[in-house]
Amino acid sequence: MVKPIGSLAIAAVVPLLAALCLVSCTGGDARWCAPVPSMTVEQACDAVCGTAHMLKLCLRTLQPRARRGGGEHRRRRDDAVTRYVGAAARGALDAYAATAAAKRGMQYSAALPAEERTAHERCMAGYDLAVRFMGRVAGDLASCETAAARLRDDCDGSLAGMDACRRKLFGYPASPLYGRNLADRNKTMLVGLLSNLVPMPTPPPPPTPSP
Ligand SMILES: *[C@@H]1O[C@H](CO)[C@@H](O)[C@H](O)[C@H]1NC(C)=O
Repeated sequence: MVKPIGSLAIAAVVPLLAALCLVSCTGGDARWCAPVPSMTVEQACDAVCGTAHMLKLCLRTLQPRARRGGGEHRRRRDDAVTRYVGAAARGALDAYAATAAAKRGMQYSAALPAEERTAHERCMAGYDLAVRFMGRVAGDLASCETAAARLRDDCDGSLAGMDACRRKLFGYPASPLYGRNLADRNKTMLVGLLSNLVPMPTPPPPPTPSP
């Protein structure tokens, strides 16, 4: 019975983080953090996904396997949108890691022409970039001050990394990496779409002039 204890711990930690955030964001010259909205997975995915394909990817990413297909017992619980961004970011990082592993597997194949091998190396430089930015996305969410301020830039950076890889593979559309990159790009895009639900922090109001 480890699972219920685990989720209880998470349930206890989340309000604590929210409280810490509240404290740090109201002091000093910090930016003013808008309250983070809460909604169900379905609401979040419906709000940001423009295509049926993206909607399916969104639901698949954010609904844990155990909870899916639970019929009437499935909980339609509200969660902070930052949790959804974090979950999608971790999903993207897992996908990057799987692609990097697939690339390493191909590296030793004698059948791979030298030029394509070089293209794979250059593609992976884009992945390295994407990993750095996407890693920051999850970290950004820990503090409401950096959260929205840097979130958009970090999502853009990850997407740029995916596109940098793709440009290196244009000459090799049959490469297994090409298809993987397109799928990974969609996962990256999903994080960016979900990040639109996180309100931007606003600069503190100007001090009222003393008479
Ligand atoms: C990526 O998403 C678009 C639409 O959102 C879809 O048309 C395309 O097939 C997807 N690509 C992959 C590889 O999943």
